[in-house]
Amino acid sequence: MFVEPQFSPSPEVHASARRAPAPPPALRVGMIGTGTVGSGVWRVLRRNRDLINARAGRAIEIVAVAARNTARAATALDGAPGVRLLTDPLQLAADPGVDVVLELAGGTGAARDWVQAALAHGKHVVTANKALLATHGEALAQTAARHGRVLAYEAAVAGSVPVIKALREGLAANRITALAGVLNGTSNYILTRMQAAGLGFAAALTEAQALGYAEADPAFDVDGTDAAHKLALLAANAFGMPVRLDAVHVEGIRDLQRGDVAAAAHLGYAVKLLAVAEQQECEGRMAIQLRVHPALVPARHPLALLDGATNGLLVRGDAAGSAFFSGAGAGGEPTASAVLADLIDLARLPAVSSPTPTGPGVPTLGTHRRAGDDPAVLPMAPVKTPHLLRLLPGAALCETAVLRALAREGVRVRRRTWAAPVTPGGAPELLLLTAPTPDALAAEATAHLQAYTGAQVRRLRVELCSALTDEQ
Ligand code: HSE
Repeated sequence: MFVEPQFSPSPEVHASARRAPAPPPALRVGMIGTGTVGSGVWRVLRRNRDLINARAGRAIEIVAVAARNTARAATALDGAPGVRLLTDPLQLAADPGVDVVLELAGGTGAARDWVQAALAHGKHVVTANKALLATHGEALAQTAARHGRVLAYEAAVAGSVPVIKALREGLAANRITALAGVLNGTSNYILTRMQAAGLGFAAALTEAQALGYAEADPAFDVDGTDAAHKLALLAANAFGMPVRLDAVHVEGIRDLQRGDVAAAAHLGYAVKLLAVAEQQECEGRMAIQLRVHPALVPARHPLALLDGATNGLLVRGDAAGSAFFSGAGAGGEPTASAVLADLIDLARLPAVSSPTPTGPGVPTLGTHRRAGDDPAVLPMAPVKTPHLLRLLPGAALCETAVLRALAREGVRVRRRTWAAPVTPGGAPELLLLTAPTPDALAAEATAHLQAYTGAQVRRLRVELCSALTDEQ
């Protein structure tokens, strides 16, 4: 039950003065989009109405919805009782009967106009749209600040897991040195199914889509773009830097083979699509690595143990040490959980519906930045990691000649082993684990080795960043 705030009057207080204060007005929400997440928000809000209202201190009501197809929207929202159904999100953004606009439609074009219009009309905005924020987050944060409104986006990164709140508030006193995460549920689901059930890539992707994990364009998931959007937002909050999507090195999982996953397992690793941001000193200045790519993680590491659509994030701070967050990273209700948490935060603001700017207490991107203070972003070429080289020989292969060839290139091999072929009747594979080697050098050496031996050589990075290794 929603319990209104009470006070205990002394017995002398006259009965008329004992009346409880009027409850604060409801937070009026206008929602754009009624897909997987929108209908999840509707469901959870109805199911948990009393406890959400009690925690928020006022009722939270969806009073208007904008959707392309209002009939379908009504169906998704159980008939949408008491809700005004609109087809134009801009109309909703200007609606005087709405305090908060909830943007759940996705995309970066029209969605930017809706969010900007809503902020300019004095609405707070809650969104799950990581693509929008990774692309236009700087400008939108400035618009929000100009109008004294909140732009909240917990649901944009890691679904249900409150990582934005953790970086922006819980760990706000720390100098963050590194973070590493599994941030795309679809890719993690696919990799899990490839490893555990031996599924092919396409079949696993179809399953992930059926479960509501994938983006409208699943290329965003499997090509690493979605994880890059999330990494750019995390890095902005962690390092007080601008949102630098353009500077993230991005590789996806589309080209991974079952044999790559099997070779990694043979050596005691799991393959994960990792998003890594790490601070590094470069010519006397702090610079940041920003990268998304498949990587080998020791099989017993917490990040390796994340199954299915689970997301996880490791953060290393100078005071807190290492902190690990994990939970459901995709899907309707897990994402709705984060959306509703943002709405509850807004409902708790004392002057949420005030026409006077309230001024967000927490900066949208975590830091009040000073101009000219932004760290540089390092290119991928000098980033050092160990590499797994998987040699699939067409003919007999001389191991000593291979090692000599790599040594000539400046690549040291720390471990080598032969593995049985994944496909019956295939030739055994030579697996080599190198010492930490700059990325560009490893790529060049791989190409030369392939030309020299005639074997197909597959290269996978082994993750060694300080978020994973406890090295400061
Ligand atoms: N497509 C995204 C994922 C949804 O698979 O992680 C949550 O952001």
